Amino acid sequence: MVKTMGRTLTDREKPWFLRLHRGRRLELTERQRELFLKIGRGPNPGLIVAGYGGAMGGGKTRAIVELAIDAALMHAGNNVLVARQHYTDLSSTTMKEFFRVCPEEYIRQRQTAPTPLVVLGDKRKPSSSWSTINFRHLTEWTGLGSQEYGSVLIDEAGEVAEEAARMLLTRLRHPAQTQRWFVAASNPWPGWFERWFARRELDEAAFAEADGRVVYIPARIPDNPHLPEHYAAQQRALQPGEWVQRFIEGSFEAFAGQVYEHFDPKLHRWDAPLPPFDRYIGGLDFGGQSHQDHFTAGVVAGVTDRRAPCGPNVLIRLGEFEDRGPGVTGRLEVWQHRWRSKLGRIQWCADRSQSAWIDHQRRLGNRVVPSKGGPDSVNWGISLVQQRLSADPPTSYYTPTMQSFPTRMREYQWANSKTDQSPKPRKRNDDLIDADRYMHELTVKPPRRRVMIVTPPVGRPARWSVEE
Ligand SMILES: Nc1ncnc2c1ncn2[C@@H]1O[C@H](COP(=O)(O)OP(=O)(O)O)[C@@H](O)[C@H]1O
Ligand SMILES: [Mg+2]
Repeated sequence: MVKTMGRTLTDREKPWFLRLHRGRRLELTERQRELFLKIGRGPNPGLIVAGYGGAMGGGKTRAIVELAIDAALMHAGNNVLVARQHYTDLSSTTMKEFFRVCPEEYIRQRQTAPTPLVVLGDKRKPSSSWSTINFRHLTEWTGLGSQEYGSVLIDEAGEVAEEAARMLLTRLRHPAQTQRWFVAASNPWPGWFERWFARRELDEAAFAEADGRVVYIPARIPDNPHLPEHYAAQQRALQPGEWVQRFIEGSFEAFAGQVYEHFDPKLHRWDAPLPPFDRYIGGLDFGGQSHQDHFTAGVVAGVTDRRAPCGPNVLIRLGEFEDRGPGVTGRLEVWQHRWRSKLGRIQWCADRSQSAWIDHQRRLGNRVVPSKGGPDSVNWGISLVQQRLSADPPTSYYTPTMQSFPTRMREYQWANSKTDQSPKPRKRNDDLIDADRYMHELTVKPPRRRVMIVTPPVGRPARWSVEE
């Protein structure tokens, strides 16, 4: 019997999962319990969008797995999705944990190909009451667009693209589960998980009016008693500082792997009146015309002249363009035209691999040069951006009307470790950042052409060669 303050709880007050979990000998950790209670207290019928985030070992994967079993057993004929970005991680962690903890007696069917799924239910009841749990990776998520789910449960959501998460929200309409669950578990990576849950950037008031509820529960190592003794202390001793903050303490503020570590949305924002400029420059990155393509992006900036109170050669970004889908070309050109009427001449630099685009832009009367290109050009461009950000005081800023830019800068990450021989940035939502980098190429003199005399074999005339 469940009692609180000496009083026996009514059926309505009892946690919804008590009876279900007793059958599986499961006891939730304190934090997991908080998550499950908050989900259950949301509107029904309704849509719960929940984030369970923070330190590793906080019991996130286990929570996802148990919620999947609950959703399947509670609602006859339900269809549940358990997802993770990469298939190998899905099968080696999330699915492994699932089959470790799911009681054999519930499993009616197990399929591994073409896609893994498991059917759960009571064997004494008709098969129409059984539910399906689908395990899917999200590297190719467009194919999931025709499914209907009662619950969507995403493990390590920080690895998943925001578009994929948003698309999955639209798939929550299976009639078997009237209180639909979208639950994401994640380590503290910068990205949509942080924005939706830790920084609460969704329109929660409008969502609440439509029977929606956003729930965020931080998951910390000390809240999980099932880890080996001294686990957190051992990890703290072994890991470097930013890892401790991020993975042990679950802090979203530690930016392991962030490319522009010195970027600070407050410090680099230009709130003062605009100083006089010497010239205007911009960067362009062309995407495609469909909704799934890369963004088409543009940044325009002024470079201050000698009379500016902040001194000359300070770069102040004035405007941004980030858009995609049919008609994006026309919209970019309107944007460029507006800035040209306002500022006068603008020198643009664009991705050199898109030469047809550059030709088209030139025919429109825009002054466009191709970016440098070549094996090390990305890291060279990044270093140009970094030098201006980290100067004291900084020599680059953005104006507050730019909405995407600060978010894109914070979320731009290395794909591999910075300590690797040749670090590469992760190619995700990097279009605006690329445009910004091309623009920075216009702030330095082009690398000097070196004239070399090639020493000829005896008896042949000398040749000149020009190296770029
Ligand atoms: N409620 C629980 N009861 C028993 N063991 C748990 C519980 N929650 C988590 N664990 C165990 O703690 C360990 C870490 O949990 P896990 O879900 O993998 O954490 P995370 O995904 O946050 O890194 C795993 O061995 C897991 O089985
Ligand atoms: Mg995990």
